Amino acid sequence: MDGVESETGFAGIVGRHPSMRAIFDVMRKVAPTDTTVLITGESGTGKELVAAAIHRLSRRAAGRFVAVHCGAIPEDLLESEMFGHERGAFTGAIASRVGRFKLADGGTIFLDEIGEMSPKLQVKLLRVLEDGRFEPVGSVVTHQVDVRIIAATNRSLEAAVAARQFREDLFYRLRVVPIEMPPLRRRRDDVPLLVTAILEGLAAKGLPRFTVTPAALEILERYPWPGNVRELRNMLEQLVVLGRPEHTIDVPDLPPHLLAPPPLGEAVPAMPWQFGPAGIDFYHEMEAIEDRIIAQALRLSGGNKKEAARLLRVNRTTLLEKLKRKRAQGSPLAALLGGGRVPVLPLGAAADAAPPLELAPPRPAPGTAAA
Ligand SMILES: Nc1ncnc2c1ncn2[C@@H]1O[C@H](COP(=O)(O)OP(=O)(O)OP(=O)(O)O)[C@@H](O)[C@H]1O
Ligand SMILES: [Mg+2]
Repeated sequence: MDGVESETGFAGIVGRHPSMRAIFDVMRKVAPTDTTVLITGESGTGKELVAAAIHRLSRRAAGRFVAVHCGAIPEDLLESEMFGHERGAFTGAIASRVGRFKLADGGTIFLDEIGEMSPKLQVKLLRVLEDGRFEPVGSVVTHQVDVRIIAATNRSLEAAVAARQFREDLFYRLRVVPIEMPPLRRRRDDVPLLVTAILEGLAAKGLPRFTVTPAALEILERYPWPGNVRELRNMLEQLVVLGRPEHTIDVPDLPPHLLAPPPLGEAVPAMPWQFGPAGIDFYHEMEAIEDRIIAQALRLSGGNKKEAARLLRVNRTTLLEKLKRKRAQGSPLAALLGGGRVPVLPLGAAADAAPPLELAPPRPAPGTAAA
């Protein structure tokens, strides 16, 4: 098969990072077999791309690659979607229907978002995995198919197993060969390669051929890409379609959220703290949290410190001491209090979901330049 190995990746999958090379190795080994593969990874990391490539590289390439998006189909329809149904099997089943497993006979079935599958279907799937047999909905006739199964999920199946939402036996049966797709922010070195490949792909589709300036590329490499390669692809396509006549993408062309990204490192939306390479200033962060809680109490009490102390369930003197210390340290909270103004913080936001206190501008970590 030609065109499989290339300078920039494997089987049309772009990447040179060691984590991607390791995946290509596994793909090379697993493709010629009928072994079940479980692909995990965040949205947009290329799970379907890898599944389709494994199919193309397998002896089943002449058969179909049939994708089933288990999360997108309502539960009661999913069974007939996968296994087919007999005429009259349920209200509305006016004709019998061939399921995706039958369609994939001799080929590969790709079960996406497998974690969303109902317990009933999990049992049925387990049986197909064991011996390739199933009955269509409303039928007593057992069908036998020769199908290779590749499953994917962007949520932790281990956690679903622990929560008893996913059968453990099915989990192990699916995860014979696991492939974990790295998020793009863990393979930033691959961003320039991807940018080139994506721009070439767009040009091949008849769009103008664009280039990216080094400064813009640097920003693309630094951005954490929560939507992974899909987000990068969509953004580049938008920039090309709406782009300048010079056919270049420069820093001012980039969307604003790329220009003010969170500090270097992984974007972890559940946590307001961003650990850059230099770490965080723990005591400063703790102060900021304290400021934020006190500001909220003062706001609720209309600036009344006795009432604020009651809300915080601390002694009034403790609160006064803290405020005195903060004032002495020049804390933004004390500054606001000094002016007789009570800091306005948004109400109603869940404390753990809210961003760190706005009053304190984040101090640059030592060794990093302030933006
Ligand atoms: N390594 C890669 N090289 C080239 N293109 C990629 C790569 N990874 C992803 N893409 C492209 O990004 C888009 C998303 O990929 P894909 O649909 O395979 O992601 P996914 O992991 O299945 O996402 P989801 O979990 O949201 O279904 C596709 O257009 C795909 O071609
Ligand atoms: Mg997908």
